[in-house]
Amino acid sequence: MHLRCYHSTVSRRGKFITFEGLDGTGKSTQLRKLAAALREAGCKVVETREPGGTATGEKIRRVLLDSKTEGLSSLAEMALMFASRAQHIAEVIQPALDRGHIVLCDRFTDSTEAYQGYGRHLGSENVLKLHHILCGGLQPDLTVLLDFDPAMSLNRARRRNQSAVHPAKSDTKKKLLQLSSDENRFERQNRSFFARVHQGYRAIADREPQRVVAIDARGTPAQTHRRVAHAVEERLKLSVGRQSILSMVNPSRK
Ligand SMILES: Nc1ncnc2c1ncn2[C@@H]1O[C@H](COP(=O)(O)OP(=O)(O)OP(=O)(O)O)[C@@H](O)[C@H]1O
Ligand SMILES: [Mg+2]
Repeated sequence: MHLRCYHSTVSRRGKFITFEGLDGTGKSTQLRKLAAALREAGCKVVETREPGGTATGEKIRRVLLDSKTEGLSSLAEMALMFASRAQHIAEVIQPALDRGHIVLCDRFTDSTEAYQGYGRHLGSENVLKLHHILCGGLQPDLTVLLDFDPAMSLNRARRRNQSAVHPAKSDTKKKLLQLSSDENRFERQNRSFFARVHQGYRAIADREPQRVVAIDARGTPAQTHRRVAHAVEERLKLSVGRQSILSMVNPSRK
């Protein structure tokens, strides 16, 4: 059966969906799963991430996330996050939305509000002002906030990073993984930092319930995926022909 994604044929502007949450909550895992489900349903999907998403942005990402970056001031950190984002919007996000595509982005301005605004004490107001100036106030149509206990999600992230730094046997694999493995600068922050980031995310979700859906991320990747797909379908009314995305990822549900 040939399925078409209604959305991309009807709407002029695409849909912008962001994934947010603490390190290790499963954002990248869930983004990949949603992208696969949407593509299966016939949608045109762009997968991207922040900081990064463009050649310039990926260079900025290396500076921001590399644990060897020392002495970066909180303001410089926030400015670099927005520099990456402004380029990302101009080069990738806006053009894809203009083509009617669905853009799935791993972190966006909510991360800056939670990590720099709350975590680094720079304040929400400053982050939102910069968002207005540098990002033209671009808002996601939907933000999936993966909610999980800070200590447990960090354990997931640290386990993943350790297995990347000390991979099994193959030297080639080791080299490849080491190239992208040292993204631990934030993960070295203390517990109170992550408690503030978590509090920041909860405050954003409370402030903007129409845009942000908080999803329990404690279950298996498949369980969380079903919740994410359900939220996408409910909130964005993305249905695929006569078949809903939800029924495609979970055939037992009608
Ligand atoms: N539901 C889950 N249950 C158990 N492990 C999970 C689950 N989801 C993801 N993981 C694993 O936890 C680790 C972190 O997941 P992932 O990289 O998707 O998180 P993330 O939110 O993108 O983290 P970061 O913010 O550090 O990029 C990975 O090793 C992943 O395989
Ligand atoms: Mg990730």
